[in-house]
Amino acid sequence: MQIPMNRKKVTLLTLQDKKKRGQPISMLTAYDYPTAMLVDEAEIDMLLVGDSLGMVVLGYESTVPVSMREMLHHCRAVARGTKYAFTVGDLPFMSYQVDIATAVHNAGRLLKNGRMDSVKLEGGQEMVPTIEAIVRAGIPVMGHIGLTPQSQSKLGGYRVQGKTAVSALKLLADALALEAAGCFAIVLEAVPAVVAAKISQRLHIPTIGIGAGASCDGQVLVFHDMLGLYNQIQPRFVKNYADLRSTIIEAFITYREDIAVHNFPSEEHTYPMKAEEEKIFLDSLD
Ligand code: KIV
Repeated sequence: MQIPMNRKKVTLLTLQDKKKRGQPISMLTAYDYPTAMLVDEAEIDMLLVGDSLGMVVLGYESTVPVSMREMLHHCRAVARGTKYAFTVGDLPFMSYQVDIATAVHNAGRLLKNGRMDSVKLEGGQEMVPTIEAIVRAGIPVMGHIGLTPQSQSKLGGYRVQGKTAVSALKLLADALALEAAGCFAIVLEAVPAVVAAKISQRLHIPTIGIGAGASCDGQVLVFHDMLGLYNQIQPRFVKNYADLRSTIIEAFITYREDIAVHNFPSEEHTYPMKAEEEKIFLDSLD
């Protein structure tokens, strides 16, 4: 695929401009170098190194065990594969909740060592002082409200949020507070479409939905979910754009069968030796 000559790096200004013009923003997760290159080549606007990596890459049962060290390792790999997309690194559970100084320090590490353009953290009005401090340090912050997977235990599981009028109003108040605190965008996860639409209308910053309907300013999906690579949990909001799991397993089975019947490697995958050298070699064995 040819990359257009005039392609520019996506910045915060690009994202704000898209919101103003009503042009939808695209975002995908990526956790490693080759994936980041694929996402970038497809001209996706934003690339999230989500703490979902704990579940889809590291095999944890939730995002809770993910550490700063693991996030930094994956952020660096993604940064090496990204030229154009605006990158966001997730602050993992307990890297920003204990005190504000630690939160600013860890956010800084995601930029300095992880080479991300910005950070994302979960939570509503209670996170305002933390967000303000991180933004004051010069670090762009993306908010994340609705279903916040790091606190799924407190929420009683992976459940849709904002289904009652009272909880929907609380989500709107959270979104407005996050915007006033300086967030440049907010993820709305698993929220009724009508609630997400009203929040998106009221905010000046973009909303990026995942299970929040078509009226958000942008959409995000987890790479492994949209390609059918992870089938442990299949939320209603996931659309499978490919079934790579079957494709990959079929390729592995064909490889195993090829080996079993000596179909692989064939001539084309084998290094030849000059005939005279081969003769000397074989003769010297007699
Ligand atoms: O970690 C993640 O992948 C996320 C998305 C679900 C928004 O936070």
